[in-house]
Formats: sequence, structure tokens, C-alpha cells
Amino acid sequence: MVLRRWGVGDAPAVLEAYAEPLMRWQAPQAVESDDDARQWVRARVAQWEEGTAFSFAVVEGEGDGKGTVLGNVAVSAVDRRHDTGWVSYWTTRSARGRGVAGRACRGVARWAFDDLGLFRLELGHRVNNPASCRVATAAGFAVEGIQRQKLLYDGVRYDVESHARLATDAEPPTP
Ligand SMILES: CC(C)(COP(=O)(O)OP(=O)(O)OC[C@H]1O[C@@H](n2cnc3c(N)ncnc32)[C@H](O)[C@@H]1OP(=O)(O)O)[C@@H](O)C(=O)NCCC(=O)NCCS
Repeated sequence: MVLRRWGVGDAPAVLEAYAEPLMRWQAPQAVESDDDARQWVRARVAQWEEGTAFSFAVVEGEGDGKGTVLGNVAVSAVDRRHDTGWVSYWTTRSARGRGVAGRACRGVARWAFDDLGLFRLELGHRVNNPASCRVATAAGFAVEGIQRQKLLYDGVRYDVESHARLATDAEPPTP
């Protein structure tokens, strides 16, 4: 499994990933057509070039030239004044439950500390998203508290649990 930058050739995999109901429900923007998927990839490329967000495709079997996209992991909201960033992730439905998100999250955190030079990485998940909580905890992101009623989906507000990991925190144990 490798983390690499997104490319236009990944658009079909993005479209497929966003067709899953949970992704569709919570995605900040709709990805419902080939054009949407290409636009999604182009936005990732542009953000990388601007230095505002760094999104990685999580890919398996890239060595034979026909990698399978398993998910996305990103460091966004990069604030160079305070050396902070926001981590997010998703995996394709068929890739779930194999520890993919956990490993990708650990990998991107290491990269953000060592290569980007960030000091504090934050993330948050709805309290009714226990899989995301497991991913965050396994990747060494400590719980910092509950943000009450932070997110609104379909007229329902959700509490969000905040996690963060510091560059000085111990590396989490390898599962
Ligand atoms: C959250 C998500 C990224 C997890 O991806 P994944 O590749 O399955 O994650 P992992 O396999 O690394 O770990 C999942 C962990 O959650 C656990 N888990 C999965 N579903 C669970 C549930 N309903 N209740 C409790 N734990 C659950 C798994 O057992 C596993 O635990 P383990 O590490 O102790 O074995 C994936 O479900 C997803 O893409 N969801 C939609 C997008 C999303 O919610 N992103 C996060 C937004 S904050």
C-alpha cells in the first residue's frame, strides 16, 4: 500500500467511491458524474500546488502499473503561522475493515510532521462514527473533547469528537 498524489487517471475510482451512500451523504460536495470526479481530482492537484492542502490517494498494487485506489487521506487547512493542519480520510467500501484508513492516517501524520514540518494535527468525527474514532485513536490522535452539535446533515445536528496529535507525541504502537 502506498500514498501518492492524485492524478486525472483516478477520476473513475473517485466517482465509484462517492457513489457509496455514506460518502454521498456526508461529502462536502457532490461527485455524481465523470466531470465532477475530474473536477474533484483537479481541485486536489490545485490545492497541493498552492500548498493549502495535501491529499494522497491510498493505492494498492501500484507496482504493476494497475493500482487499485483504496481511499484518500489528506492534510488540509495548513496554517504555517501555527504549524497546524487538519487530517481527514475515507476508504472505498470494499477496502474497509482491513486497517487501510488507520495505516494511511499514521503515514500521513508522519509525513506531515517530518516533511511538512507541522507540529499539531487535528481531526474530528461525528460521535456516531465509531470506525473513524478507531482510526484516529490507532493513528495516535488523542481525544480532546466534544464539540456540541457542530455538524448539520439533513436537518439533524451532530456532536463531533475532536482528536489531535502533536509532533512530540509518542509514535502509536504498530497494530
Ligand atoms: C471511517 C473509515 C475511513 C474507516 O475506514 P477503514 O479502512 O475501515 O478503517 P480501519 O480498517 O483502519 O479501521 C476501522 C476500525 O473501526 C472499527 N469499526 C468499523 N465499524 C465499526 C462500528 N460500526 N463500530 C465500532 N467500530 C467499528 C473496525 O473494527 C476497526 O477497528 P480496529 O482498528 O480495532 O480493527 C471508513 O468507514 C469510511 O470511509 N467511512 C466514510 C467516510 C468517513 O466517515 N470518513 C471519516 C470522516 S471523520
